[in-house]
Amino acid sequence: MFKDGSDSATTKLNPLVRQILSHSPNKLRFTAELNLFTREHMLKSEDEVKLNIERAANILEQADCLIIAAGAGMGVDSGLPDFRGKEGFWKAYPALKEAGIEFSSIAAPQSFISNPPRAWGFYGHRLALYRNTIPHDGFRILKKWADNLDFGYSIFTSNVDGQFQKAGFDSQRIVECHGSIHHLQCMDTCRSAIWEATDFEPLVDETKCELMNASPTCPHCGSTARPNILMFNDWNWIEDRTEQQQLRQQLFWSKVKRPLVIEMGAGTQIPSVRHFSHRIIHEYNGRLIRINPTDSKVPTPMDIGLQMGALEALRLIDAELMSR
Ligand SMILES: NC(=O)c1ccc[n+]([C@@H]2O[C@H](COP(=O)([O-])OP(=O)(O)OC[C@H]3O[C@@H](n4cnc5c(N)ncnc54)[C@H](O)[C@@H]3O)[C@@H](O)[C@H]2O)c1
Ligand SMILES: [Zn+2]
Repeated sequence: MFKDGSDSATTKLNPLVRQILSHSPNKLRFTAELNLFTREHMLKSEDEVKLNIERAANILEQADCLIIAAGAGMGVDSGLPDFRGKEGFWKAYPALKEAGIEFSSIAAPQSFISNPPRAWGFYGHRLALYRNTIPHDGFRILKKWADNLDFGYSIFTSNVDGQFQKAGFDSQRIVECHGSIHHLQCMDTCRSAIWEATDFEPLVDETKCELMNASPTCPHCGSTARPNILMFNDWNWIEDRTEQQQLRQQLFWSKVKRPLVIEMGAGTQIPSVRHFSHRIIHEYNGRLIRINPTDSKVPTPMDIGLQMGALEALRLIDAELMSR
């Protein structure tokens, strides 16, 4: 069991501002009090971050395994885009903005039927980008921690980018719940084959978001191949590979007693990763450290929310551990 540590440093901004307002009919006095309050609040926030980093280091020291849960925000510090909101997505793909195409319509099997060069323009660009990306230092820090724990680590990610494998994590310990861009399947699902995309070198015209060379094809029937990724309105995603990964992860659960989830960069719109983290807390008595610059609220006072980027948070926790 983990030792308890409740979150006493939670600061509720709005009620305090309301309180100041109700006691200050005089505007000048109100402004002075608000300034004082803001300064105090900033100091409190710094203390709060420090306290939460210490608490994070404490529960890390008590855990017997690390469950790494990651959404698109995990790649941001490696220079990858997340697709937060329509504007976030269009910033990464201006050609699709011009054509008025949103993430949910390009990331759909239908786009491989209506306009294969454009669909592969989008996925081919991402494939090349992820192949060329160097995972940021936070990946190394996580692996260093995990390698010292009794049961090591297990990873659950909605990212299709293969960055954990690239950073040296064991592919047998990774669940890619939405599949992988480094794997392909037949558009016509002539059979349930999934194969690696290594032979496909996409050449993309980025200004048009269009594939310039030939699309990959199914080696069995010759139809167009598509990434083995769960897309929007997708009834043909072949999930065998992900199911195998999940079975292996379930075996892992049966051994661990004090799982700690470190969740990074998981958004709220497609909440698969967040749901996973909550499941570990409730079903396996786990603890959660949630790292996210905007959505860091946690479900129980025993969990820790760090409102910052993944790399910064991991570095701060690591510095705290090293100082002990
Ligand atoms: N790299 C990838 O594989 C990739 C990239 C984009 C989208 N997707 C797919 O699109 C869907 C998007 O959902 P999602 O929730 O993963 O992403 P999202 O884009 O909806 O949300 C990203 C989250 O990351 C946070 N974030 C931003 N910068 C961060 C940083 N430096 N450190 C930590 N967190 C940061 C944001 O506040 C946000 O909450 C998923 O299904 C995913 O498979 C995958
Ligand atoms: Zn086929």
